[in-house]
Amino acid sequence: MGRIAYAGGRYVPHGEAHVHVEDRGYQFADAVYEVIAVHHGRLIDEDEHLARLDRSLRELEIAWPLSERALRFKIRELIRRNRIGARGMVYLQISRGVAPRNHAFPKGRRPVLVMTVKLLPAFDYAEASRGVSVITAPDQRWRRCDIKSVSLLANVLARQQAVEAGAYEAWLVGDDGLVTEGTASNAWIVTADGLLLTHDASHAILNGITRQAVLRIAADHGVTLREGPFSVADATSAAEAFLTSTTSLIKPVVGIDGAVIGDGGIGPLTSRLLDYYVDHVGEGAAGRAGPST
Ligand code: PDD
Repeated sequence: MGRIAYAGGRYVPHGEAHVHVEDRGYQFADAVYEVIAVHHGRLIDEDEHLARLDRSLRELEIAWPLSERALRFKIRELIRRNRIGARGMVYLQISRGVAPRNHAFPKGRRPVLVMTVKLLPAFDYAEASRGVSVITAPDQRWRRCDIKSVSLLANVLARQQAVEAGAYEAWLVGDDGLVTEGTASNAWIVTADGLLLTHDASHAILNGITRQAVLRIAADHGVTLREGPFSVADATSAAEAFLTSTTSLIKPVVGIDGAVIGDGGIGPLTSRLLDYYVDHVGEGAAGRAGPST
C-alpha cells in the first residue's frame, strides 16, 4: 500500500498530492509547518506542536484553514490511513493560500493545508544513543527564526555543507560568535562544571518542542541548567554535547568541527536525559538493557 497524503481537502495517494502553482507557500515561502512524531500510534506533544503552529500563524497573520479540532481529527485519520505502527512522523504545512503573484498579502484567500507522513524504522536504543559529529557554519537566516516558516534556504545550504563534510548537522553561529541552534535541531552543551546550557528562546532560534520537553524533564530531575547562548569555544571544550528535535530525539554530539567532546561517546548527563526522554515518548526500557543473558 502506498502512502496517503492530505491535499486539496482530500486524502489522496502521495504521488498525486499537488498544490497550485500560485500557492504563496510555493512562490514566497509564505507558509508555516510542523513536524509531529508518532510512537506506537500516539502523537508526541501534540498540544505543544499545535500551540506553536497557532503562534507561527498569528505572527504571520495567516488564518487557520479549519478548526483546531478538525485538524486534530484529520491528523489522526491520516495516521490511520497510512497504518503508522511503531514509529513515524506527520508533516503539516499551512500556506497563506493561492493568489496572483504579488508580494503584499491578498485579501480573503483561504489558507492551504497539506499533510504528508513518513514511516520510520522502529525505535532502536543503540541507534538513538550513538554519537554524531557536527560542523559549525555561519547563521545566515532572517531575524525571526522563532517562527516555524518553510523559508529554510539558509538551513538547507548549511545542512548540505554538513552532509558534504560527513557530519550529521551544522550548528549555526551568529556574527557574535555564539551558537544559535542547528539547521533542524536545537543545540545543547554540558559545561565542565556540570551546567546544562542551551540558547534562550529568543527570535534567534526555533523554540523546539523537544527542547521544551527536555528543559522540563531536566528541571524535574534537579539538573542545573541555564537558557543562554554559548560560543563555539565553549562547545568544543564542553564535557558533553547533544542536539534535540522531533525526529532525532536527544542525539549525543561527540565531535564539533573535528574536536572530540568528552571521551567520544555519549556523556553521563546526556545518557540520563535520553533515558527520561525515551520514557516521555513511550518507548519504555525496550532494548536499553542490552542483550539478555
Ligand atoms: N525541525 N530548530 C530548527 C531550526 C528546526 O527546524 C527544528 C525542527 C528544531 C527542533 O524543534 P522540535 O524539537 O520542535 O522538532 C529546532 C523539524 C523536525 C524539521 O524541520 O524537520
